[in-house]
Amino acid sequence: MTGRIFFKLIVGMFGLLLVAIVLVDYFATQVARDAYIANLRRQLADKGRMLALSFPEPARFPAVGAREIAQAAGGRVTVIRSDGLVLADSEANPREMENHRNRPELIDAFRGVVGSSIRRSATIGVDFLYVAVPIHGGAIRIAVPLSAINRQVSEVRAKILSGTALAFLPAVVIAALLARWVSRRFGSILAYAGELAKGNFRARLPSTGGAEFGTLARTLNETAGNLEQTMAQLQHEHTELEKVERIRKDFVINVSHELRTPLASIQGYTETLISGALQDPQYNMRFLRIIRHNAERLARLTEDLLTLSRIEQKRQKFEFEAHRVNDLLRDAVELMTPLAEKNQIRIWEEPAPSGVEVWCDSEAVSQILSNLLDNAIKHTPVGGAITVGGRESGRFFELYVRDTGVGIPAEELPRLFERFYRVDKARSRELGGTGLGLAIVKHLVAAHNGTARVESRVNEGSTFFFTLPGSESELGGERLNPEFTAL
Ligand SMILES: Nc1ncnc2c1ncn2[C@@H]1O[C@H](COP(=O)(O)OP(=O)(O)O)[C@@H](O)[C@H]1O
Ligand SMILES: [Mg+2]
Repeated sequence: MTGRIFFKLIVGMFGLLLVAIVLVDYFATQVARDAYIANLRRQLADKGRMLALSFPEPARFPAVGAREIAQAAGGRVTVIRSDGLVLADSEANPREMENHRNRPELIDAFRGVVGSSIRRSATIGVDFLYVAVPIHGGAIRIAVPLSAINRQVSEVRAKILSGTALAFLPAVVIAALLARWVSRRFGSILAYAGELAKGNFRARLPSTGGAEFGTLARTLNETAGNLEQTMAQLQHEHTELEKVERIRKDFVINVSHELRTPLASIQGYTETLISGALQDPQYNMRFLRIIRHNAERLARLTEDLLTLSRIEQKRQKFEFEAHRVNDLLRDAVELMTPLAEKNQIRIWEEPAPSGVEVWCDSEAVSQILSNLLDNAIKHTPVGGAITVGGRESGRFFELYVRDTGVGIPAEELPRLFERFYRVDKARSRELGGTGLGLAIVKHLVAAHNGTARVESRVNEGSTFFFTLPGSESELGGERLNPEFTAL
């Protein structure tokens, strides 16, 4: 490709040089030839006038000796009477020559002025310059062949041509260098465009070179940069969409699955009761309890699903107000203490500095804390301890629930806040969990423009953290947390 550009540029430049040389040659030849002829015409006229002085009338011209006179004059000499009759000629026999009345140079000479003409001689067959000078009753004409002039013009022409070619030599070298430079730049730009076309938006052109090439390279680089960014953004959005789509599909499958198990159980035991077990005092109460247990599970599940979808579709009305952190902590602890005591677990409070407030919906915070405390109680063995507290974290306030429970393996942590994600599914169900508790926590925290996270060590315990805005301004008009819609 580069080679072709180079070739075209070189051919173009040589074409231009050639045209210039041809034009110079043509005009210079023309000028030189005209100058030579004008000079020769003047010389012949002068010689003619001198002859006219010696032979003022045609009759005075000696019939013999014309050849010698012509030699002295340096050209063919002809004497013509004013009626066109040739009286003498240095080269031919005048009697055999035709009437010269209509020769252009003689028409002028017979009118009394010096006449001249260039034409092919009918007698000898070569180009001649004829100059005729008037004399009394006729004219003397001197003619020379133009071949000599043509030779001289050719010499001048050769000199001019070689001079011009020599003068153009540096131009040719410069043109070649320029063509090579231009074609190389073009080559690199073409190669670069090829890379872009192949989708390699990372490629960059070195932005060296002249002003135009530099600007072109810069513009192309900027374009590539923009494309790269756009592509990355599209890629990112695509991945996000795929992720959301996967989560949505998983969610539908999970919900159906979660609903089917208790429903199947209720159906099965009801059938058994109807087909006779109702009368059997040994089983009827047990079966009814199982049915109640599954109905409760369904109720919890639907309750949690409704809560999630309400927050997600922003139908949940939050009443954001300033609340003292310690009040929020105490209310949650009070609410969960009976359950903790039942499991012989103590809940400790690490109060925030007194009077510290957060901007939140107290119902939502109560649900967040009770979900976390419920989990902590469920996963902490008898005799364990749970601590709730809060601490400043920039313009937010961070609350935490720490337990001395079983802990969570590190590889489970990244997906822990996803809906229905449970480390031990069977155990979660056994404990009456729905697998939605942490997803609800995450959504409620995000609705406060905060973030939720977990730190855990197996067999040592877990700590769940979440942040709440310190004041109304941190809440933001719009939901700033992108995870809010992603999960
Ligand atoms: N404090 C904790 N200690 C150990 N594991 C926990 C703790 N909290 C949550 N988990 C794990 O995270 C899972 C999801 O919790 P959650 O969303 O509340 O669902 P559920 O409690 O209904 O199982 C739990 O099943 C459990 O495996
Ligand atoms: Mg839970």
